Amino acid sequence: MNLLNRPRRLRRNAAIRGLIQETVLNVKDFIYPLFVVEGEGIKEEIESLSNNYHFSIDMLKDEIDEITNLGIKAVILFGLPDKKDSYGSEAYSDDGIVQRAIREIKRINEELLVVTDICMCQYTDHGHCGILKDGYVDNDETLKYLAKIALSHAKAGADMVAPSDMMDGRIAAIRSILDENGFTEVSVMAYSAKYASAFYGPFRAAANSAPECGDRKSYQMDPANSDEALREVELDIKEGADIVMVKPALSYLDVIRRVKDKFNMPLAVYNVSGEYAMIKAAAEKGWIDEKSIVLEKLLSMKRAGADIIITYHAKDAAQWLKEE
Ligand code: PBG
Repeated sequence: MNLLNRPRRLRRNAAIRGLIQETVLNVKDFIYPLFVVEGEGIKEEIESLSNNYHFSIDMLKDEIDEITNLGIKAVILFGLPDKKDSYGSEAYSDDGIVQRAIREIKRINEELLVVTDICMCQYTDHGHCGILKDGYVDNDETLKYLAKIALSHAKAGADMVAPSDMMDGRIAAIRSILDENGFTEVSVMAYSAKYASAFYGPFRAAANSAPECGDRKSYQMDPANSDEALREVELDIKEGADIVMVKPALSYLDVIRRVKDKFNMPLAVYNVSGEYAMIKAAAEKGWIDEKSIVLEKLLSMKRAGADIIITYHAKDAAQWLKEE
């Protein structure tokens, strides 16, 4: 055969493949989610998120050391309060679960970047992400609370706040309260295109945050839309977001690519609980090779345009990348 073009020439061996490799996974890309609970002496595996745990604050030391030794540079905190009310007041208490966890993590390792999720659903007795008025989440009233939560996290020492509530105008509300209080260096990572997704199921079991009634479709986005994702991202950038996010990741790789192509912004993706649980369950059955699948999946998110990946696989992936 007289073939001029033989793409296989560049796939002959690992060295040559390495030369033309376009996308590289790096432990520096990862943010690892941590769930903190009230109480003492607690390190309990989360049933719906195997190999992830609920930690009481006194049990964080070994976990933070392990994360640090693996080379992971950032965590995102989720708190499970033991008291809930209609205003989610534990979420902005200076002595709340997340505020104390931030201080403890910073005491253990000042260098570890601490990101906090800003939302009310774990803290409200009705489980919605804001203040309810006649059964509907009141946008503008909720903004005041989100701003208070962000401020209390910044005061406790958070490096970055990540609003995941999907209210309109929240980035501006948070940016202005942070700036007014001298926290100009605290960055905002906006969950800009957050879809009303069934892939959050295992997280809601882990965080005890499922809505008591109804769903989140009046604030989270319709999975059918991607032009709308671009509008959401644009608004968040205009309001002062430092990093924008697409969530979930795996079923939304097309949205990730569109956002990356259109906006010259650092882009995070959230590899959510349902995506994690599916792989874990299939791996436990022996149906898939977990390591290869996880690394391929994380690579696909970067290839689609992600700079940052929030993932429950972070510790495993960090270990595997070290071994390679
Ligand atoms: C809080 C929040 C959720 C997730 C992150 N922050 C749940 C939700 O919106 O219902 C989901 C994360 C995951 O599934 O891993 N609003």
